[in-house]
Amino acid sequence: MTVALIVAAGSGERLGASVPKAFVEVAGRAMLHWSLDAIERTESISHIVTALPPGRVAATVGAGEKPAPPHETVPGGASRSESVRRALEAAPDDDLVLVHDAARPLLTPEIAGAVISALREDPDAQAAIAAAPVTDTIKRALDARVVVETLERSDLWAVQTPQVFRREALQRALEASPEELAAATDDASLIEQRGGRVLVVPTSPQNIKVTTPLDLQLAELLLLARERDPA
Ligand code: CTP
Ligand code: MG
Repeated sequence: MTVALIVAAGSGERLGASVPKAFVEVAGRAMLHWSLDAIERTESISHIVTALPPGRVAATVGAGEKPAPPHETVPGGASRSESVRRALEAAPDDDLVLVHDAARPLLTPEIAGAVISALREDPDAQAAIAAAPVTDTIKRALDARVVVETLERSDLWAVQTPQVFRREALQRALEASPEELAAATDDASLIEQRGGRVLVVPTSPQNIKVTTPLDLQLAELLLLARERDPA
């Protein structure tokens, strides 16, 4: 079985709303509830642990439908990695751990299920991560915004969550130095840096992350369209 950790403890500085990002309303529900709903409908999830902004722990989760697998909340930490670590400490000892950002409300049970299956089917892999092929041309520009190279697009993936890990691999990765943890924008990077095998699982580019007000508008439109016309 797989335990799911949802990290929802960020403040959402770049979104600039009056409440933490996970509690901003999108298409009629708190952003966090969309992810909770998708995770609770994902097969083989035994348990959900959500990291919430300190002070929000009791009040907010459970305001919507109650998730089917047992669900508990923990106060998040100062960085995303610290929130993951705290949630993992509170989780039962399933061998697979799925980590998902509450900032991606377009998650579906199909995406989560595909990432779990990919890791299950490759015994040598330590992690499998949702990602969409990059469609823009990506260039690297250094000082004074001068282009130094154009990256080979066919090799590039825009990485998302969920990311699914073998538990020991994630635990070891989270033992990295505080500087390394603070610099890591996802958990899989801590594993690939140590030579671990990380699989990319192609998913929909619709599984966007809400970072800015524009993303929030886009997420609202996509969720409303999905509600109107479920695939
Ligand atoms: N997160 C967390 N604990 C933190 C920081 C982030 O649980 N201390 C979570 C966020 O709630 C989000 C995910 O990690 O679901 C991805 O982070 P990001 O999109 O950067 O969210 P915020 O940190 O809230 O946004 P910002 O960086 O704009 O403040
Ligand atoms: Mg952040």
